[in-house]
Order: sequence, then structure tokens, then C-alpha cells
Amino acid sequence: MNENKDKFSSNFGFLMASIGSAVGLGNIWGFPYKMGMNGGFTFLIVYLLLVFTVGLPLMMGEIALGRKSEKGAIQAYKTFSPKFKFVGWFNVIAPFLLLCFYVVFGGYILKYLIANLKNLFSAGSSKIAVTHTGAFFEEFISAGTEPMIYAWIFLAVTLIIVSLGVSGGIEKFSNFAMPTLTIMLIIIVIRACTLEGAGEGLKFIFKPDVSKFEGLGFLEVFAAAGSQMFFSLSLSSGAIIAYGSYLSKNSNIEKNAAIITLSDAIISIFAALAVMPAVFAFGLEPQAGPGLLFVSLQAVFNDMGTTGPLFASIFYLLVLFAALTSSIAMTEGFLSSILDAQVARGKKPNRKLVSALVYLATVLGSSLISYDALGNSNLHHPFGLSTWLDFFDLLAEGILMPLGGLCLAIMLGWFYPTSLDDEYAQGSKFKSKNLYRFCIRYIAPPVLLLIVIVQLNAFFG
Ligand code: PHE
Repeated sequence: MNENKDKFSSNFGFLMASIGSAVGLGNIWGFPYKMGMNGGFTFLIVYLLLVFTVGLPLMMGEIALGRKSEKGAIQAYKTFSPKFKFVGWFNVIAPFLLLCFYVVFGGYILKYLIANLKNLFSAGSSKIAVTHTGAFFEEFISAGTEPMIYAWIFLAVTLIIVSLGVSGGIEKFSNFAMPTLTIMLIIIVIRACTLEGAGEGLKFIFKPDVSKFEGLGFLEVFAAAGSQMFFSLSLSSGAIIAYGSYLSKNSNIEKNAAIITLSDAIISIFAALAVMPAVFAFGLEPQAGPGLLFVSLQAVFNDMGTTGPLFASIFYLLVLFAALTSSIAMTEGFLSSILDAQVARGKKPNRKLVSALVYLATVLGSSLISYDALGNSNLHHPFGLSTWLDFFDLLAEGILMPLGGLCLAIMLGWFYPTSLDDEYAQGSKFKSKNLYRFCIRYIAPPVLLLIVIVQLNAFFG
């Protein structure tokens, strides 16, 4: 065992960082909307089934792969099986692409947090226009340098934490951010569910709707649930492998993976309870993506009267923590492989220098996306897509991640079915062995194949 490696100082730290990686914008703006649009309670059942039959075994696989090799994705795959080294590359390119657009949204969150804190402390003098939240958002994202600067600040915070190391930066921040986030989320859920008219929102998310399951509609729901699950658990993005490589040898992988996947699902459900009742209580339309978080919800907070700025500040702070712990994980997902490459060349890994270089590279990538959002972009976009964000998203979420997951399932299920058993057996009785084997062989590959097909079809179809 490599004693010099900077590792998590406790199992709790590993859990907070990994749950932090999983809980992000996917939970807060992806899940509630998708659940409402895809059959409500029935979607939830399909989602949970996929979490435990596909997400959980892959989560175990990635943690074990990382811990066994004590390396980031590329080296981890290479040492496990040189044939599958290319999957390591997928796992390293994808999180960089994700980071480039995640920081743009991180910047928006920062802007909204600051605007709402100003409201809170200045008794309304700089108040966000109550009836014009849509215009406020449009104005901000088309304001040229302003959204870029916010993205750069968000990115700087991410990289400062990463540059402080695993136990000194990532673990310390996660240990503080994740419990705080949970408490803030509970406060917002209670507020949202006790609003007059909240029932409509609860109906939107929980109403069982089997009509979606007729004919081929079923496959769509299935794929929507599957890709949401995959992104939400941060699989195939180098993050979980990297965190696994910093996990102590006597920790129980089976139990840790179960806690991470379950916590992520619970927080998604809580996010749905926080967001949708409020949107419906104020008679707004549920929408997907940034519009939900920055237009609809800001309108809700503005309408809450004097307590609005307080709840808004709590809400955007909790979203900021969720986004930061995710952007940190994405960064570590590829940075760990760069540090490994330095070691392989006989050099001393220089985390601070690499963090600074990653900062510059991400500023470039994210600027393409911010520039596009100005609305009058004259940039060229590959494959006839309409924005660079779509291109980055297509490559990462649409192709590299599900394809990486498919290869992982085939590698662990069919090529080397028993070679991680010793890793699982450490600190655990590996009670789920037969179930694990069955899921990773027969359930995960077809589900992931379906996700790849549906994702590609959604972009090009
Ligand atoms: N799971 C995060 C979310 O739901 C996104 C993420 C993907 C984080 C990959 C790290 C790595 O927002």
C-alpha cells in the first residue's frame, strides 16, 4: 500500500466527498422536472430499480477499481486490464467537458446568491424585479463579461479547494458542506410543502401516470430514468475511481456504495419536494434546466414577501454547495490522472501547479459556452448543433459516459467476473455477491446500451 499518498482521513470524509460528487444540479434541476414529465410515481419506481440494479453495482465497481490500483481512471483501467485502458481516457475527457459548462451554471448560482443576500441585508433597495425575473436572467446572461467573471470565480473556488489536497481540501470542505446542505434542504422542503397550493406541485411529481408506459413510451421513460441515474451518481467520470483510490483499505465498499446511492436518491426526492410545490403554489409552469432554478424559483422567492430573501439566500447557498462539491469531483476525476502521469515519469506530483493549469484550460472551455449564451454568437458549432454547450454535453453525457459505463459493465461482468472479489471482501462479507454478479452481467449492459442509443437519438433524431 502506498503510504505517501494523500488519502481521506476517515470513511466519513470519503462518504461526504462521494455523496457531494453525486448530489448536484442533476438532483436539483434535473430530477424534479424529469420525474414530473415522465410518469411521476411510476418514474420514481423505475428510477429506484435502476439505481439499485445498475447504479449500485457500477458504483461498487468504480470504488473497487480505484482502491485496488490506488490510481486515477487511466492508470486504474490500465493496471486492471490494458485492453480497457481506453475507457480510462473516456473517464478523463468527460469530466473536463462537464466542468466547462458546470462552472458557467456555478457562476449563475453565485450571482443569484449575492443578489439575494443583498436583498436580505439592504431591505430591498437592490431588489430583483418582482415581476421580471425572466428579464433579469436574460439580462444577466447576455451581459458580456459579467457571467464569465462569475464563472471564473466559481472555478477559482473549486480549484483552490482541490489544490489543497484530498484530506486538507476536498474532505474538509465536504465534511462541512454536505451536512449543512442537508439541513438547509430540509428547511426549504418544510417551507415549500406548507405553502398554500403546494398540493398541485406534489401531484405533478408524485401522480402515477402509466399512460407513459404504453408502447414504446416505456423505453423512453426507462432511458430518461437511466441517464438521469447515471449522471446523478457521477459514474464514468473518473470522480468515483479517484475517490476510491483515496479510500482506506479496510473500508467496506459494499456498504459505502449503498450509502452513496441511497443518499443521492433521497436528496433527489427532497429536491423535488423543495422545488415543485413552490413553483405550483405560485401558479408558475414547471420548466426544465436553468429556467426552473433562476426564473421560476426566483419568482417564487420574490412573491414570498419579507421572508423571501432569507429563504432565497438559504436556497441558493445550498445549491452552491451542491454544485461546488460536484465541480470539485469532476476536477479530481481528471486531475488525479494527470498527477499519476507525473509520478509515472518519475516526477513529484505537483497538485498546485496542475490545478493552476487546469484553471486556465477550463477558463478557455467555459468561455466558449458563456460567449454562446450572449445570444448573438457568431461561433461555429460542430455537427450542426446550436451551441457549444450542446456539443460538450453530447460528447460527455451523451456518448463518453454511457459508453464508458457499458464497457465497465462488460469488463467486470464478462471479462473479469471475479477479479475484484478480494477488494469487496475487505472489511465486508460481500453478501450481495450473487445479486451483484447477476446485475452487472445481465441488467447493466442492455440498460446502458439503451441509454447510448436514446441519447444519440435525442441529439441527432
Ligand atoms: N452528479 C452530479 C450532479 O448530479 C454531476 C457530476 C457528474 C459530478 C460527474 C461529478 C462527476 O449534478
